[in-house]
Amino acid sequence: MSFSLDEKLHTATAISHPNIAFIKYWGNRDAALRIPVNGSISMNLDGLETTTRVTFDPDLQSDSLMLNSVPADESACRRVSAFLDLIRSMAGISLRADVESRNNFPTGAGIASSAAAFSALALASSTAAGLKLDEPSLTRLARKGSGSASRSIPDGFVEWLPGTGDEDSYAFSIAPAGHWDLVDVIAVVAAGEKKVGSTEGHGTASTSPLQTARVADAPRRLDLCREAVRTRDFDALAAVMELDSDMMHAVMMTSRPPLFYWEPISLRIIKEVPRWRSTGLPCAYTLDAGPNVHILCPAAATDAVAAHLEDLGGISQILRAAAGGPAQLVL
Ligand code: PMV
Repeated sequence: MSFSLDEKLHTATAISHPNIAFIKYWGNRDAALRIPVNGSISMNLDGLETTTRVTFDPDLQSDSLMLNSVPADESACRRVSAFLDLIRSMAGISLRADVESRNNFPTGAGIASSAAAFSALALASSTAAGLKLDEPSLTRLARKGSGSASRSIPDGFVEWLPGTGDEDSYAFSIAPAGHWDLVDVIAVVAAGEKKVGSTEGHGTASTSPLQTARVADAPRRLDLCREAVRTRDFDALAAVMELDSDMMHAVMMTSRPPLFYWEPISLRIIKEVPRWRSTGLPCAYTLDAGPNVHILCPAAATDAVAAHLEDLGGISQILRAAAGGPAQLVL
């Protein structure tokens, strides 16, 4: 659907949460379309949000992008413009856009800022361009900006099917946010920009001799995780989530060039969490493409987990996020 060019401004604002993957996406079958080699399951993170306003404006000569009130660097601008090109071709327009995006959490520190960024951008830009996309189509669109962004469109606990191509690689909610009172206690150990971003990492995943085994076993881990979420079985979730994180990091460490995201404090926490669990505190770790450690626990265990982390020292910030809702338009 398109709109006439004589209308002056076409604007929309969307808000979206990052997500933490319990079963990870690492490696693409088709890098351009971001068709993953395996499915993944995640939880949206309530309280952490990206708010993005997109305005298509006939007076603009080129797209412009502000991130947290600062003009974005060239590579971010290029990535957003390429995404807006998809919107323009779907809507049959050529207008340039002004994009303003704001995070209330540290950008590029392994808190999946690209997931919140591209899910908010997909919803805001498609709406501003007059497209009325259903949820599966929005997840497919967000996927083309950043794979994990597909999982930040639906509500709560979300599965992204790998599919075989553009049409069947989409995400959907397996349980709403209110289904389980899990909390992600995030130990932020370094809030700086990470060295090698996930886009580059997906490209080298297949150079690890371990990737084939990780991908072959993914359907089994997905089944275990989906069932653990469905039945709110924390012990089952803990076992499969830690295994999946370790497998992804084993692939990262054995790729060419090797990607080593852990800092000494990350490993310290990785070794402590199962020890805390053995004393009766339900908690389990997972790490994305960065040194921060995400510790999932039932809400009742949150304070005890945070207190244990504080005792360890060396952590710059502790964030807490319950399961979050879907990406939404701000009216
Ligand atoms: O969506 P991307 O390209 O930022 O990749 C995300 C990769 C991980 O965060 C490491 C895993 C995941 O599934 O979120």
